[in-house]
Amino acid sequence: MQKFIVRGGRRLCGELTLQGSKNSALPIMAAAALCDGDCVLKNCPELTDIYAASRILNCIGCKCRYSANTAVITASELTTTAIPASLMQEMRSSIIFLGAVLGKAGECTVCLPGGCELGPRPIDMHLAGMRKMGADISDYGGNIVCRAHGRLHGAKISLPFPSVGATENLILSAVNADGETVINNAAREPEIADLCGFLRACGADIAGGGESSIVIRGVERLHGCEYTVMPDRIAGATYLAMAAAAGGEIILTNACVQGMEPFLSVLEQTGCSIYSSEDRIYLRCGSRLKALSDRVRTMPHPGFPTDAQAVLMAALTTAEGTSVFEENIFDCRYRHTDALVKMGADIQVMGKIAVVKGVNRLHGAKIEATDLRGGAAMAAAALGADGITEISGISHIDRGYERLEEAVSILGGDIKRV
Ligand code: UD1
Repeated sequence: MQKFIVRGGRRLCGELTLQGSKNSALPIMAAAALCDGDCVLKNCPELTDIYAASRILNCIGCKCRYSANTAVITASELTTTAIPASLMQEMRSSIIFLGAVLGKAGECTVCLPGGCELGPRPIDMHLAGMRKMGADISDYGGNIVCRAHGRLHGAKISLPFPSVGATENLILSAVNADGETVINNAAREPEIADLCGFLRACGADIAGGGESSIVIRGVERLHGCEYTVMPDRIAGATYLAMAAAAGGEIILTNACVQGMEPFLSVLEQTGCSIYSSEDRIYLRCGSRLKALSDRVRTMPHPGFPTDAQAVLMAALTTAEGTSVFEENIFDCRYRHTDALVKMGADIQVMGKIAVVKGVNRLHGAKIEATDLRGGAAMAAAALGADGITEISGISHIDRGYERLEEAVSILGGDIKRV
C-alpha cells in the first residue's frame, strides 16, 4: 500500500503546468464510442479513472490506446452492449457510458452504480430523461436494462436539478437521436461545454453547451476528430489552496481561468494576491490567511464548486478567525474533517454546515485519505503543518491527480510516495 510522506513548513514557489481535466476527459472518452473513425484526445490526464474508462471502451469493442497524455480511440460497431459489473464498479463515473452505448447501439445493460464515498449517487434524472427519449428501462436485480427499439427520439427534458452526469448522459443519448432534444435546467459546468465542443468537432449539432438550455438536433453519424481536453480547474484550485496553506508564490499555466472564477474570487478574500491572464494564474500568499466573512456555499456552476470545498477548508484551518461552509451538493462531503482535526484543526460539523475556527498551526499526523478531494485537502494541510504527515489511502488521490507528488515537488514542497 502506497503512502505520501509530507514534511510540512516549506513555502511553495515556482511554476506548474496544469493537467488536463478528469471530469472532462471521462465523458469525452465515452462520447468517442459514438463516432466512426479515430478520435485523438490530447491533454488527457494519466489517472486511474482514465485507465478504467479505457478498459470499458476496450470491453465494448472500441480500441483505446493511451500514451503520453494522448488517447486514441477507434470506435466501430460495438461488440457488446452490456458493461460488466467489475468494470462499472471501478469508478463511479462509468455511468456516463450508459448514454453513449444506448445512443449508439439502441440498448445498454449496466449495473447500478450504488453509493460511493460521497453518499448515495442516484441516477433517477438520467433514466427519466432517457425514458422521455423513448427508452424502455427495467431493473433486474440491480442490473439496468435500457432498450430504445430502434433510434431514440428527441424530447423536451427539464431536469429537477442541474446534474452534471445527467446532463452529459442525455447529451450523449441525444446526439444521434431522431429529432430535436431540449435539456432545460442543464448543468453549466465548463466540462459540459468541453464535451459539447468535442461532439461538435465530430459533426454533432448542439447549441447552448455550458448554458442552462441545451438544444441538440440528432444527426445520422459522427466522425472522428482531434481534440484537446480542457485544463483541470479542480486540480488548479487544489495547487492554489496548497500554496495558500503553506504560503508562497506560484504560477499555474495551462489554467482554465474563467471556469475557476468562482473559486478564485473566494480565495482572494482570504488575503492572497491573485492575478490572472488568459491561461495563467499567479498567487502570492505572504501572511496568515484571513477567515471568510461570508459563508462558503457549494452550488452548481457558476457557484462555488463542491469539489474545491475540502481543499479550501484545509487552507482555512489556520486562518485568522472563523469560516463557515455549507455543503449543498453531496451528503457525505466532510469526511476529511476528522483527519484535519487529528492534525490540530478546530472544525465542528453539523449536517451540511462546517464551522472552522482558525488555529495557529497544524501538526503532522498519521491520516488516511477517504475520498479524492478530501485526500488532496489532507495533502494541502500537511504542506502547511509542522512536522511529518503520513497519508495512506492515496489510491483515492491517484484517481484525480496526475502524479501529485511530482507536481508538488516542482513547486518545492517536500512530499514523497513510498
Ligand atoms: C460530477 C463530477 C463531480 C462533482 C459533481 C458536482 C464528474 C465525473 N464528476 O459528479 O466531481 O462533484 O459533478 O459538481 O464529472 N443527483 C440525483 N439524481 C440524479 C443525478 C444526481 O439526485 O439522477 C444528485 C446527486 O446525488 C448529487 C447532486 O445531484 O447530490 C449532484 O450530482 P451530479 O451533478 O450529477 O454530480 P456527478 O455528475 O455525479
